[in-house]
Amino acid sequence: MSIYGDRISQLETVVSKGNTLIQNIIKNETNKNGISPIEYYKSRIKDESSLIDKLKRKGFPVTMESVYTNIHDLVGFRIVCTYISGVQQVAKAIISNENIELIESKDYIKHPKCNGYRSLHLIVKFKDSDVTFEIQLRTIAMDSWASLEHQMKYKKEIKHKDLIVAELKRCADEMSSTDLTMQAIYDLIKEEN
Ligand code: GTP
Ligand code: MG
Repeated sequence: MSIYGDRISQLETVVSKGNTLIQNIIKNETNKNGISPIEYYKSRIKDESSLIDKLKRKGFPVTMESVYTNIHDLVGFRIVCTYISGVQQVAKAIISNENIELIESKDYIKHPKCNGYRSLHLIVKFKDSDVTFEIQLRTIAMDSWASLEHQMKYKKEIKHKDLIVAELKRCADEMSSTDLTMQAIYDLIKEEN
């Protein structure tokens, strides 16, 4: 029996409703030139091994009850936007959706983690459901950085770790600066239209 028990179908419903929500946002937020703020998005149900790791890491009991009480990213969405303004635009659309209740917002764009991680995390739920879930919003630059950093983090033995950590931090800061410049250029181009 899976640690998710018989509530897995509830999670699958949330994935499906979340996908529909994002597709509607893409429709509504696409501008008159056909440009969407969203490049792509993904959804997932957390796999069992990383779920059990997370329960242990956080000191929670490894039981089905504990899963649903303590873990808020059993269902997760990642939305990748072209520009920072898109991240804000899409977050606003999600939060103001009549079916969504915002539980918590963690703004790692305004307040990046020490390693350079940037993203806006929304912990939300559908009003007619008990399942809270996580939506991560980020730019393409932030997403490529997070993928690379993730590869390092989950490798057991790594040579030159200090160097890699420092170089990743430098990349994160350079990419953040480029994101801001790209935003400024985009805004200038938009003004011309
Ligand atoms: P966990 O990090 O999952 O234990 O949850 P948390 O309660 O600490 O929340 P947090 O907002 O820190 O992270 C949630 C998720 O964001 C993670 O599961 C990752 O997908 C992503 N994330 C957070 N920090 C980092 C980071 O430093 N690097 C990368 N690559 N991803 C991160
Ligand atoms: Mg964390």
